[in-house]
Amino acid sequence: MRRALWILALLAAAVTACRLLLPDRYVVNAPVLNTLLGGHEPPSEAERQRLRAPEGFSIQFFAEDLPNARFLRLTPAGDLLVSRPRAGEVTLLRPDADGDGRSDGRELLLAGLNRPHGLELHEGWLYVAETDAVGRIRFDPRTRRTRGEFERVLTGLPGGGNHWSRTVRFGPDGWLYLSVGSSCNVCEEADARRASLLRLRPDGSDVQIYATGLRNAVGFDWRPGTSELYATDNGRDLLGDDFPPCELNRVVEGGFYGWPYANGDRVPDPDLGDGRADLIRRSLPPVHDFRAHTAPLGIVFLRHAPEPEYRGAALVALHGSWNRTRKDGYEVVSLHWRDDGSIEEREFLSGFELDEDVIGRPVDVVEDERGRIYVSDDYAGAIYRIVRSDAAGMPARPAPRAAAAPGPPPDPRAVARGLELYQAHACATCHDPLRAAPGVVASPLTDLARRYDRAGLAALLRTPPSPMPVAALDDAQRDDLARYLLQAF
Ligand code: HEC
Repeated sequence: MRRALWILALLAAAVTACRLLLPDRYVVNAPVLNTLLGGHEPPSEAERQRLRAPEGFSIQFFAEDLPNARFLRLTPAGDLLVSRPRAGEVTLLRPDADGDGRSDGRELLLAGLNRPHGLELHEGWLYVAETDAVGRIRFDPRTRRTRGEFERVLTGLPGGGNHWSRTVRFGPDGWLYLSVGSSCNVCEEADARRASLLRLRPDGSDVQIYATGLRNAVGFDWRPGTSELYATDNGRDLLGDDFPPCELNRVVEGGFYGWPYANGDRVPDPDLGDGRADLIRRSLPPVHDFRAHTAPLGIVFLRHAPEPEYRGAALVALHGSWNRTRKDGYEVVSLHWRDDGSIEEREFLSGFELDEDVIGRPVDVVEDERGRIYVSDDYAGAIYRIVRSDAAGMPARPAPRAAAAPGPPPDPRAVARGLELYQAHACATCHDPLRAAPGVVASPLTDLARRYDRAGLAALLRTPPSPMPVAALDDAQRDDLARYLLQAF
């Protein structure tokens, strides 16, 4: 038993050492490691062939083995910064200088942060939004080095609850905008900063509530050539498969966008809309509806596209539904503004979900100065790059697949404690189809051991996928619960 553990530890150390010593693109891709860190096994080469971009574009697998890759920011030197909230890290990916379509290496830029999510660069600083704070550190894009300490310019943000991710962007007006999602599916918030967009000065002073009634506006960007701010927003759950729509809102100062009293175009909410006619009338409807539960997250307006059709269009990552009878979303769409101001939605990058089978979930989208587009995927732990087809084809991916090593036998007492925690925290209300709360489309837990190990599951419980709430558990309890989950599902 002890020996088996030793061998396992040595194996893991050896794999890690190889990966540290070799430049990234020579390293054998090891799905085991991805799984160990709480991600999903990356899709196979064959599965990836089903990803589709519009004619004239091709898809490159820019980076992988980045479990829980969330928000993106390009540096002026062409490096791509990636936040990985579950690991508490921000990673820097070097550009593709040798033209093989893949990043030429990576560096760990920041570690030990509290669910870092939104990233922004401004006047020599790298800003990072943690779940309860905004911090910054001196960063030189040319040397790829940070300098000094990570200093938190804003602390005490309400964290936890259903929507823990925070996004930051500097507006054209020099203010730092910060979105803070709601703590719940639908409720009246005790803290006015929740379900709103805040703005503050770069040094963290003068925090203002800029707009309210935004349930979870994870992505926002300014339309080029205007000062118009657009934000995605995720509609509430438990009102059926097709209602309410997810939203694109044009956000104005002082605007109120309806949540929790109204959904979509000012339709009163069945739980909290009663007697709120005045508020609902004053609320601003979305400028575009995404299909219900498709979960729009990152948005970027294209500023460098050579095609008139795409210049000024926006790309939006739809993370995909978790509570629809049939899955929907799981794609990147493009939004095109027509002359009459209406918006047309088209498919841009699709194939992540096919007949209910999921191989990826898009999170954020950015564009570099040459018009190349980068998409993060927190399910496959990957970054895709979409380029014009004449620029480069789809390179082969060197990825032999290793089999996961069997873990040590479970400790029955820990598993029993885990079961108690599972019951005490009412996990079944969302995960067991037979015991789900009324109106909840449960998402059953299956095959966990194929995709997670204990540490990976414990990390997931610490930083759950939205909208799963954060349960109040300590490290030992998370470990017990992880053991139970691996045993039971
Ligand atoms: C309010 C509903 C809700 C509750 C309560 C809840 N979860 Fe979840 N959980 C979710 C959702 C939603 C997902 C993500 C599903 C998706 O995106 O496909 C999820 C995902 C997971 C996953 C990852 C599943 C996978 O296949 O990768 C695990 C493991 C998990 N939950 C365990 C738990 C445990 C343990 C508890 C109790 C402490 C719990 N959940 C409580 C809603 C909930």
